[in-house]
Amino acid sequence: MSRRKNMSNEAENTAHATGKDLGAPPILLTKKPTRARASAGGRTKTACIRTFGCQMNVHDSDRMRRMIRDAGYAEVLRYEDADLVVLNTCYVRENAVDRVRGHLGELNRLKKEGRVKKVALTGCIGAGQEARDLERAYGIDLVLGTHNTYELAQFVGLPGMEETFTPELPGTEGEHTAFVTIMTGCNYQCSYCVVPSVRGRMVCRPMENVLLEVRRLVESGTRYVTLLGQTVDAWREDGRRFCDLLQRVADIAPRVWFTTSHPSNMEDRTLRLIGQKDTLVKRLHLPVQSGSDRMLKIMHRGYKSERYRRKIEVFRDAVPDGTLSTDIIVGHPRETEGDHEETLKLVEDCSFDAAYVFKFSPRRGTEAAELPGTVPEEVAQRRFLEVLRAIEQSAFRRNRRKIGSVEEIYIRHGRTGEDGKAAVGETWSGHAVHVVTDAEPGRYVTAKIETAGPHVLYAGVPFGPPR
Ligand code: 5AD
Ligand code: SF4
Repeated sequence: MSRRKNMSNEAENTAHATGKDLGAPPILLTKKPTRARASAGGRTKTACIRTFGCQMNVHDSDRMRRMIRDAGYAEVLRYEDADLVVLNTCYVRENAVDRVRGHLGELNRLKKEGRVKKVALTGCIGAGQEARDLERAYGIDLVLGTHNTYELAQFVGLPGMEETFTPELPGTEGEHTAFVTIMTGCNYQCSYCVVPSVRGRMVCRPMENVLLEVRRLVESGTRYVTLLGQTVDAWREDGRRFCDLLQRVADIAPRVWFTTSHPSNMEDRTLRLIGQKDTLVKRLHLPVQSGSDRMLKIMHRGYKSERYRRKIEVFRDAVPDGTLSTDIIVGHPRETEGDHEETLKLVEDCSFDAAYVFKFSPRRGTEAAELPGTVPEEVAQRRFLEVLRAIEQSAFRRNRRKIGSVEEIYIRHGRTGEDGKAAVGETWSGHAVHVVTDAEPGRYVTAKIETAGPHVLYAGVPFGPPR
């Protein structure tokens, strides 16, 4: 998806300095033929899955896609061609709920016309307080939260399952890239965040269970594994910490990344491991949210900006060629001009390579939604643009440093650029690169970086054939 489309997909409350994909159209992740064909009056049944929100949701959708495929459904891209539509939703910001309402209204109409038979609402909105209202208002057939996604299996006619994350049901077996969830939920209580109430407390998957899934994926041809969790670096089991698990995974899989981390859990040895281990992508996503200690306290983030800065120093020292990205919220209740200035200062000091900048959005049931000191919309908008501009400048400056270097590039998507010419790849430093090649996703090419924008690098013609 092009950068411009990606940005316009977003409501005005969010902007990304890199391409995090919210509310993307459904992607056919499995290219394998459907095993059995479920039939509806002699024809194959069809299903459409639409995903909103974060990578956790993309991954949950992969699992549901597997279930649907195993039940004999063929996947289609348009609602009007689908017997079953699954909306896998995000609840993090208010505009996400509004957008899902729009989709539900459309689906309700298609159902009345007899074109869509069943609608399932899953994901974070499914687990939230609004789910019952939506179910009634739009005649939804199945509502599932994030903890019981596995119940979809029975709904589509498969034998019942009892848990969602098992090596028996990897999301993307046989694909070049795969997500592996290592923990669910979150034990923090950030003032603004709805995740703890919709995803529950932290549950860590046993190490052996994770490693089994990674081994199977690698045997099935997966070349890039991303470990997932809301606070992935909080993973622990019997005295073992995230760094131990990461090391084991990086011994098995040829290319590994992880997201998303919490600064309070990020150990220095993990940062050093990123620099040392050649199968780890040298990119760290470490959300800071604000540069002001006063705001970090109000947000209950559990660290001060000095501690965050120190982590970044360790990272830059251990991984000199690495990329660093973050999340920042502007306009949280009680944020003053002084707090905002401190965020801008932190952005300057940390030289981020990318960031997701969010305007605060009050979420029902969170502490921040009840706090006095609301920041007026026009002030929040100005601060938002100021942070965004600072991030883009920093990203552009850092990206330009890569010009002239020769990079090994992992091809993530084939020629899908705006003009169909460039494939989208990723360097070991975690930079996104456009490169003109016919190489298949999952292959590597080597090429020289010729130019750079704030979001992406552009490489010349690769040297030699893809590997
Ligand atoms: N308003 C704005 N941004 C939010 N985020 C989470 N909750 C909110 C909210 N209520 C942002 C945080 C988090 C990212 C995934 O979404 O920056 O890190
Ligand atoms: Fe939400 Fe905070 Fe947990 Fe992240 S750490 S999921 S922002 S509560």
